[in-house]
Order: sequence, then C-alpha cells, then structure tokens
Amino acid sequence: MSLGSTPVGVRPGDEEAASRSIREMFGRVAPRYDLLNRLLSGRVDVYWRNVLVASVQEYLDKPDAQVLDLCCGTGDVIVALEKELERRAGSSRAATIGSDFSRPMLTAAQDKLTRKGRTVRLIEADGLRFPAPDASYDVITIAFGFRNFANYRRGLDELHRLLRPGGCLAILECSQPPNRLWGPIFDWYFRNVLPKIGNAMSGAGDSYSYLQRSVERFFSPDQLAEQMRLAGLERVSFRRLTGGISCLHLGYKRSAAS
Ligand SMILES: C[S@@+](CC[C@H](N)C(=O)[O-])C[C@H]1O[C@@H](n2cnc3c(N)ncnc32)[C@H](O)[C@@H]1O
Repeated sequence: MSLGSTPVGVRPGDEEAASRSIREMFGRVAPRYDLLNRLLSGRVDVYWRNVLVASVQEYLDKPDAQVLDLCCGTGDVIVALEKELERRAGSSRAATIGSDFSRPMLTAAQDKLTRKGRTVRLIEADGLRFPAPDASYDVITIAFGFRNFANYRRGLDELHRLLRPGGCLAILECSQPPNRLWGPIFDWYFRNVLPKIGNAMSGAGDSYSYLQRSVERFFSPDQLAEQMRLAGLERVSFRRLTGGISCLHLGYKRSAAS
C-alpha cells in the first residue's frame, strides 16, 4: 500500500514529479481513452458510472445543489449526471462542474459536451489543491481518478474541505475481486491481456501497464474506507461492483446539525 501514486521512474515521495508524470500520461491517453474504456471493460464502465450517479441522486433534487466531478477525464460522469438531472427536470437547479488537470482530457470533455448540447463549466485544476473555497460542494464525484493522486491523505483532506456540511463524497475506483474463482481469472486478464491491448491501442507507451500496477498498489476497499474515516468522513460504506472489479465508496461530511 502506498501513500500516493508513484509511476515508474519517479522517486517515492516526489509528489511533484509523480503528478507531472501522471498528467502527461493522461494527456497522451486522452484521444483513445473512451474507445479503450469501452473495449477493455466490455462497456461495463458505463453501468458503473450510472451506479455512481444513482448513489447521489437524493442530492440532485436539492435546489441549487453544487456538484463537482473531479478528475472528470473525457466527461462521462458529467454526461451521466446531466442525464439524471434532465430526468428530474423541474425539481432541481443543481449545477454540475467538471475538473481535471489534463488539458487534452478537458478538451475531449468539452467536445463531447458540446456535441451533446450540454453547457457545463470545466476547470483545469489539480485535485490536490483545488481552487475553491471551503464548503463549496454538496456532492463530489470522482471516478477512476483518486487512485492517481500523488498523495491520498492530502487528497482526502482536500475533498473533505471542499464539501459542504452534510455533503457526499462518492469515489468509484478499480479494485481487485475477492472471489477465489473469479479473482484469479480477472487477475490473469488484468496482468496479461489488458496492458497489452491498452498499450498497443492507446499509442501512449506503457500507460496501461501503469493502470495495472496502480490498481495492485492501491488500497483495498476496507483500507480506503478507513482512510476516508480518518479524513473526517462519516457513515462511510462501500459496494463492490461486478464481482469487485470496481468499487463505489460513499462518505458524508458531518452536517451542521449533528
Ligand atoms: C482514469 S481517468 C478517469 C476519467 C473519468 N473520471 C472517467 O470516469 O472516465 C483519471 C483522470 O484523473 C485525472 N487526474 C489524475 N490525477 C489528478 C489530479 N491530481 N488532479 C486532477 N485530475 C487528476 C487524469 O488527468 C485523468 O483524466
């Protein structure tokens, strides 16, 4: 278990270098990111994001709710959030904001949102030092982004700072299936097949080897839940999805009343 993501070639503890390397890598991956996500997950990634959005839907009904999708990449969570908001039309004036530190990812997100006729504010920023005042957001979603933070503890402190009292943090992450039968099968696919296809098709060096390594080095669901509690979040829970290939964690900031 590591304190933060450390790509190959970066000295452990050098957070600036780790962040830079990760930002550059996602910049290279951006043009083929969606295609590879759908291919390598068999489109299950779309379902996972829908589960993420469903888990925060009570907040979407709040008048003037502020929803931040951090590490938004090419904007798939934003699209799912916007669809849900449209479905609830009339009951909410929630605003969605997307953010990422990779400009090519944000450009892809902007293109996708424009194609879909959506107007969403996008901010280029590092999630470890996000340019917003304390208690700005009712909901923060972060899908497959948190694992890449160069410092997990600092990331969780920052996310906690940004939440309003009573607000919800929803982290969707890749995970390792615990099942004794399914686990080894998935492990074989994840180590041998996914990096080869990903590296070959992304045209971005060994980026998909990084994906595999980073998942192996990341917290178990129990450990991430504990880290969320240590950062001050309450009622922390997690739900394994698709046999534990991914996992959705929820945690809430103490409300002003409690
Ligand atoms: C695997 S992609 C996930 C994108 C999107 N959320 C999705 O569901 O497909 C991870 C994203 O996190 C972004 N990211 C990683 N570390 C970040 C940080 N410290 N601050 C902001 N964005 C970051 C990357 O640029 C990349 O776009």
